[in-house]
Amino acid sequence: MNGGSVLQPGSLALSRKEEFKVFAESPRRSRPDLLTRKQLKSLATQARADYDRQRRQWHANIGPVKTPQLTELHEDLWDIVDSNEQDGDKAKGAVAVDAFPGLGKTTSVPPFARDFHQREIEESGAFTSQGHERIPVCRVGLTGNTGMKDLNRAMMEFFGHPGQTRGTTAQFGRRVLDCVSSCEVRLVVLDDLHFLKWGQKSGIEVSNHLKWIANEFPVTLLMVGVELAKKGLFGEGTNGRDTALAQTGRRTTRFGLRPFTIDTEAGRREWRQMLLALEQRVVLTDKHPACSRMSCRTTSSPAAPDTSAR
Ligand SMILES: Nc1ncnc2c1ncn2[C@@H]1O[C@H](COP(=O)(O)OP(=O)(O)OP(=O)(O)O)[C@@H](O)[C@H]1O
Ligand SMILES: [Mg+2]
Repeated sequence: MNGGSVLQPGSLALSRKEEFKVFAESPRRSRPDLLTRKQLKSLATQARADYDRQRRQWHANIGPVKTPQLTELHEDLWDIVDSNEQDGDKAKGAVAVDAFPGLGKTTSVPPFARDFHQREIEESGAFTSQGHERIPVCRVGLTGNTGMKDLNRAMMEFFGHPGQTRGTTAQFGRRVLDCVSSCEVRLVVLDDLHFLKWGQKSGIEVSNHLKWIANEFPVTLLMVGVELAKKGLFGEGTNGRDTALAQTGRRTTRFGLRPFTIDTEAGRREWRQMLLALEQRVVLTDKHPACSRMSCRTTSSPAAPDTSAR
C-alpha cells in the first residue's frame, strides 16, 4: 500500500501494484514547447520557473526511444504472450531476456508490460467476474542475494498482501498463488533474476522454483537478467545430468538484446537514427537548426519514426 500518498509517474519503482497501475494508466508526458530566445526572455519569473521545471522533468525522462532492438523484443514478446492464451490447466511457455548489462532490458520490458496491462483491462474490464481488482501484470525487481522466500515475499509485497511477516517459503508461495488467481494476473516479470541466490548446484533450486511458478501459475513468466544461461538456468553446461534444468530450458524462449554497432552501414544508420531521435526530443532554444528541421536526414535513412515507447 502507498500510505495514501498520491503516486506521481516520476517517482515509481514499479514494485507495487499501485505504482504499476499509475505507470500503466497515466497519460504519456508531453514535450514542453520549444521557445525562441525572445519568448523565453518575455516569461515572467514564475512562468520561467515552471517552464524550466517542465524541461528538467522532460529531459530526465527522455526515453525510452523505440529503437529497433526494443521494437523487435516487443514483437517477440507479443508472440509469446498471445500463444500462451490456452486454458489455465496447461503449462505456459516462459520467456527469458538474457543480455549483457546496460543494453536496455529494464528499459524495454516495462513499456511492453504497460501495453499488455492496458489491453487486458480494455478487453476484460478493471474487475474480475468475482469482483476482485484485475491486475494483469505482477512485476518484481530483485535485489542482491535474494532467496526463494524473499522472492515470494517480494511478490506478496507487490499485491500488498498482509501476511508477509510469518510463514515458510511454501506458505508464502501459496499466498502469492492466491493473489495471482484472484487478480487474474497473466504476466509475471522478474527483473534482475541473476540476483537470486543460485546455491551450490548451478541453479537447480532456482530452476525448480521457477518451474513451479510456470506450472502452477496461469501466467507467462518473463525472466530478465544477465548471464542466466551461463548460470545454468537452462540446463546448459550440465552435460544433460539434470533433467529439471533441461525441462526449464525447453520451455523457455530466450531473447537477447543486441548492442548498437557501427561497423556495418545498417548498424551505423540505426545508431544515427537513435541520435537523431534524442536530438529531436531535446528542448533547447537555439538548438542546431538542421536538426530541428530534420533536414540532416540522409535519403537512405528512414524518417525518424514516432520514437516514443512511453
Ligand atoms: N530504448 C532506450 N531509449 C532510451 N534510453 C535507453 C534505451 N535503452 C536503454 N536506455 C538507457 O540505457 C541505460 C541502461 O539501460 P537499462 O538499465 O534498461 O539496461 P539493463 O540491460 O537493464 O542493464 P542491467 O543489466 O545493468 O540491469 C539506461 O540509462 C537507459 O535509460
Ligand atoms: Mg536492468
